[in-house]
Amino acid sequence: MSRPINVHLVPGLFEPADLRGGVAVVIDLLRATSTIIHALASGATSVVPCGEVDEARRLASQAPAGSVLLGGERRGMKIPGFDLGNSPGEYTRELTAGKTLIFTTTNGTRALIRAKEARRVLIGALANLEAVVELLAEESGPVHLVCAGTEGRITLEDVLCAGAIAHWFNLAADDADPSDDATQLALHLFASCGHNYDRAYEDRVLAILGRSRGGRNLIDCGLIADIAVCAEQDKFDIVPELSRDPWEIRVARKKK
Ligand code: MLT
Repeated sequence: MSRPINVHLVPGLFEPADLRGGVAVVIDLLRATSTIIHALASGATSVVPCGEVDEARRLASQAPAGSVLLGGERRGMKIPGFDLGNSPGEYTRELTAGKTLIFTTTNGTRALIRAKEARRVLIGALANLEAVVELLAEESGPVHLVCAGTEGRITLEDVLCAGAIAHWFNLAADDADPSDDATQLALHLFASCGHNYDRAYEDRVLAILGRSRGGRNLIDCGLIADIAVCAEQDKFDIVPELSRDPWEIRVARKKK
């Protein structure tokens, strides 16, 4: 049986039940999923995604002192009273190791919550591209690439990352079926960068990220440096996965 690759350009374009039985990869390249990957790679024990700021504050207030960090953003900026914002570079080993990160962002954590009915919910970005593709190739069933978008609107950067995952997964799995129209759209966008990881490819990826909706928002916030950090490919060999009970994200595995 073939394995359809479905790119969901924004979370509102699928019903949660559509993902049942499949493996979802949630993508918020700028920056929520890139930041979750950095935090876990820096030794955070888990990440608890929250849809709302008040919920995040409440969970943090119930945790033993010193055991948690509150992180995330609204309008791109650190939330008042939080420990950290949503810049991947903030999540250093020194600050993060051994801590639980309670995390809320505008679109990324909400996309994760909407994808929760999939059989497995993985966290993807360019930072762990190869590790995600390897895990998907070992799995079975449909693949759902869920782009977080920005406030219900399509964002180029998430579609580009979905295209990269779809491209390499299609090559890695004999039975992959990339015929879905949104998947073809994402593949075309990724193909416009070329596929070989060289300087020209990196420049084209950066150019697309810089003019994407998420990239423009970061530039307006004075956070342009985050774009280059999120564009770094295969920096980590981990795949984070959302567990439903308990509700948290942990490293599912390291790439072989
Ligand atoms: C989001 O969840 O939409 C992003 O985290 C936004 C951002 O990076 O500021």
